[in-house]
Amino acid sequence: PRRRSWAVRASSSSATVANPEGIKIMTVPTKPVEGQKTGTSGLRKKVKVFMKENYLANWIQALFNSLPPEDFKNGLLALGGDGRYFNLEASQIIIKIAAGNGVGKILVGREGIMSTPAVSAVIRKRKANGGFIMSASHNPGGPDYDWGIKFNYSSGQPAPEYITDKIYGNTLSISEIKMADIPDVDLSRLGVTQYGSFSVEVIDPVSDYLELMESVFDFELIKSLVSRSDFRFAFDAMHAVTGAYAKPIFVDKLGADPGSIANGVPLEDFGHGHPDPNLTYAKDLVDVMYGENAPDFGAASDGDGDRNMILGRRFFITPSDSVAIIAANAQAAIPYFQSGPKGLARSMPTSGALDRVADKLNLPFFEVPTGWKFFGNLMDAGKLSVCGEESFGTGSDHIREKDGIWAVLAWLSIISYRNKDKKIGEKLISVEDVAKEHWATYGRNFFSRYDYEECESEGANQMIGYLRELVSKSKAGEKYGNYVLQFADDFTYTDPVDGSIASKQGIRFVFTDGSRIIFRLSGTGSAGATVRIYVEQFEPDVSRHDMDAQMALKPLIELALSVSKLKEFTGREKPTVIT
Ligand code: G6P
Ligand code: ZN
Repeated sequence: PRRRSWAVRASSSSATVANPEGIKIMTVPTKPVEGQKTGTSGLRKKVKVFMKENYLANWIQALFNSLPPEDFKNGLLALGGDGRYFNLEASQIIIKIAAGNGVGKILVGREGIMSTPAVSAVIRKRKANGGFIMSASHNPGGPDYDWGIKFNYSSGQPAPEYITDKIYGNTLSISEIKMADIPDVDLSRLGVTQYGSFSVEVIDPVSDYLELMESVFDFELIKSLVSRSDFRFAFDAMHAVTGAYAKPIFVDKLGADPGSIANGVPLEDFGHGHPDPNLTYAKDLVDVMYGENAPDFGAASDGDGDRNMILGRRFFITPSDSVAIIAANAQAAIPYFQSGPKGLARSMPTSGALDRVADKLNLPFFEVPTGWKFFGNLMDAGKLSVCGEESFGTGSDHIREKDGIWAVLAWLSIISYRNKDKKIGEKLISVEDVAKEHWATYGRNFFSRYDYEECESEGANQMIGYLRELVSKSKAGEKYGNYVLQFADDFTYTDPVDGSIASKQGIRFVFTDGSRIIFRLSGTGSAGATVRIYVEQFEPDVSRHDMDAQMALKPLIELALSVSKLKEFTGREKPTVIT
């Protein structure tokens, strides 16, 4: 049973006052807890930490203490999550504290389920003041694993750093939690429940999002491909949130075979999986797509539905190429972009494939730090339409989050468009064909990322310190093996819209031939430190495009390991994940 009883500990000293509008508000005394600082995307910890007395409640109250009252008093907030363990209990806590702080109405997905992109879409469509997403994204779920919470603002984007910093500040001085004394809401039934002047509406997590997708894409065009007898589609929802979206969208709307959806039921522990769509963790799908009689198109999404992986038959599309290929084909294949994208952007470690598309299409181009939130201002200012990150995030300004299903629909649109005149039996243009054509036109940016997960923080920090020192002493023209340094720095970003500055965003060594090696510590881990090394090399020569990326990048990877002294600092011989 998914339902367990839960309450914030209302100690005997908690005061209850009658609220003029009819609901009782309790004031629950509390004490600050350490370590509630948010990372790249929200607060993430082991679920056992979140289940400690008032841990979640403190953070939620600190959030209300940090927002200007006009941003929530009598306002509308959305609430969703990826279906992981503890979400149902957390939903009740969040609803009661929201009511206690004077929020007017909460829109919550049925069973607490709503993907990150769908929450962003709901906030925008329903003009909500913001919303909560209960997810630790791609991190495993269940009693021994992770939980997380994110807050998004009124245009549907992750809360800016000045708000999350303020929340953190308030977690350090919090002394009381305001909670409405209302019963647990039945999250299994659609509809509105009124409690005095406060109400909760349980909504279908799919319908607003599906409506948006139908306005962005040509569903008839996609259906003409997906429902063909000579095209086989495979989608792996990894027992995570897109399980709730896959059947209504791919099967019911687009005519895919019901058997094309794998792991399509969201589970609290993601079926013991690690819901991260990459070559390591989406192994089931990879085996299918590289096996005998492989389908034509494969895709997967992560815990909360914002990441994606795209595969052709025995062919992997690296996310850096994915965004470039979508951008290059968007105007022709996707109605939303019929007047052409306004601008393109990628995160700093993402390969330069997109830069080449921007150049050729003569579009404004931006390079931002890792973290989707950096795209939001550019979108709000009308400067950016299509963007992506190497970390399997792709999206556009239809919402303010990356969007896994959107990326799958974008790729299906491209393949549909290219095959729209093909008769049954004629050879179809494949995912691989589209990628290779793209490389032939723009050149290929070989790219790979090495992750060293859960390293000791001390050694990892020392390594970064060592690299910073190296950067400060570096000079253009220096030799690094066969490479000649163009520059080395620790990436700093100045937001062109509001002038805000984000510094220390990753150490890069850029060489004169355009090759790069980049070092960062992840901002999304929940234990220890994760070191990421990104390597990239541009190859204009078509005859070399078929090379395996790991082979092509071997010299640069070796250079990255020796420059950083990674082995000495972390004791690690091998990466935990290679993408
Ligand atoms: C999340 C964020 C992305 C980010 C990714 C990796 O998915 O939404 O914007 O690229 O994490 O971040 P990290 O700090 O772990 O490299
Ligand atoms: Zn995610």
